[in-house]
Amino acid sequence: MAKILVTGGTGYIGSHACVELIQAGHEVIVLDNLYNSKEVVLDRIAEITGVKPKFYRADIREIEEIRQVFQENKIDAVIHFAGLKAVGESVAQPLMYYETNISGSINLYEIMKEYGCKTIVFSSSATVYGAPKSVPIREDFEVHTTNPYGSTKLMNEMILEDLTVSDPSWSVMLLRYFNPIGAHESGLIGEVPNGIPNNLVPYIARVANGTLEYLRVWGNDYDTIDGTGVRDYIHVVDLAKGHIAAVDYALTHKGTEKVNLGTGKGYSVLQVLHAYEKACGKELPYKIMDRRPGDIAECYADTQKAKELLGWSAVYNIDDMCRTSWNFTLKNPDGIK
Ligand code: NAD
Ligand code: WQD
Repeated sequence: MAKILVTGGTGYIGSHACVELIQAGHEVIVLDNLYNSKEVVLDRIAEITGVKPKFYRADIREIEEIRQVFQENKIDAVIHFAGLKAVGESVAQPLMYYETNISGSINLYEIMKEYGCKTIVFSSSATVYGAPKSVPIREDFEVHTTNPYGSTKLMNEMILEDLTVSDPSWSVMLLRYFNPIGAHESGLIGEVPNGIPNNLVPYIARVANGTLEYLRVWGNDYDTIDGTGVRDYIHVVDLAKGHIAAVDYALTHKGTEKVNLGTGKGYSVLQVLHAYEKACGKELPYKIMDRRPGDIAECYADTQKAKELLGWSAVYNIDDMCRTSWNFTLKNPDGIK
């Protein structure tokens, strides 16, 4: 098995990836500056797997802090989750996003090159597709970003592709996530948004536990099944397992691959809300509001490439996603402490 560096490994998706990596027999090392997560997540990972990953509290903007990890550990591959991810914040503070998501990532790639570690799985996003001309979205669809956050994802894809052109011995997996939600069955790890959530399901979870009054539905006049926005929600554990398949593929192949990680099925805002009502056993209040600027009507993945190339498909359904989200919320009413 391999020694895998997981940057951002105490975060929402990273922590679920650490669990799956350990349970697949890999050795995991976590690098995180705890900007949007807590060190106690490592204890939760240990409670689930019996293994507490080696941890470096480090900032990818500080190249020497990354170098220390590679000086002290022979890393076989990197899964790169570390970064900033709030679309609205990126519009207000673009330089902060470019500094972390671009300069910080380049620091990582430089050190990887220096230490001869040329295998990386990168956290990209369906946001690189912008407003798709049709759905389902295939990996060869044109890309177009509409905010600094999305641009940092697309730029990282381009940087890594150019790196592979300059040195074909690199192996690069660019994983384009759709909308990850849900939590580990144990309820020990899950999504803990800072402040008022921008994303749908963490917001619904707060309405369900009474900390927010009602869900604001951003528009019901889209050309969709019920007028509300349709997205491809994927269980975070399915997403994590997709990373195991991707890193195993990357360790045995060279070159760059772009792969959608989604379910291939779209659900509307109201369909998700009703699924959550079923999960929590309560009626959840909502109000129809104006559209949110920048939103698109419909977005869901063509999942063929992930199935054919990686032998991976999502298995959890929307009820599993809402059930596990609610279970985590009930067990962690004030987030992970
Ligand atoms: P998250 O905020 O929970 O995890 C990111 C982690 O990176 C956090 O633990 C944070 O402390 C750490 N971090 C931030 N800046 C850092 C820095 N300068 N140095 C070291 N660590 C740093 O977010 P997440 O939802 O787990 O997302 C993980 C990755 O997946 C991100 O790159 C995100 O852009 C990408 N992604 C997320 C979604 C989503 O909807 N959650 C969708 C597509 C792509
Ligand atoms: C989903 C749907 C909203 C909140 C974002 C980022 C993307 C990626 C995933 C990082 C939309 C509606 C939402 C609310 C609502 N993140 N909604 N009321 O916008 O598809 O994607 O997260 O990579 O980059 O853009 O996810 O959860 O914000 O919205 O009606 O309070 O729910 O309009 O139709 P989105 P979301």
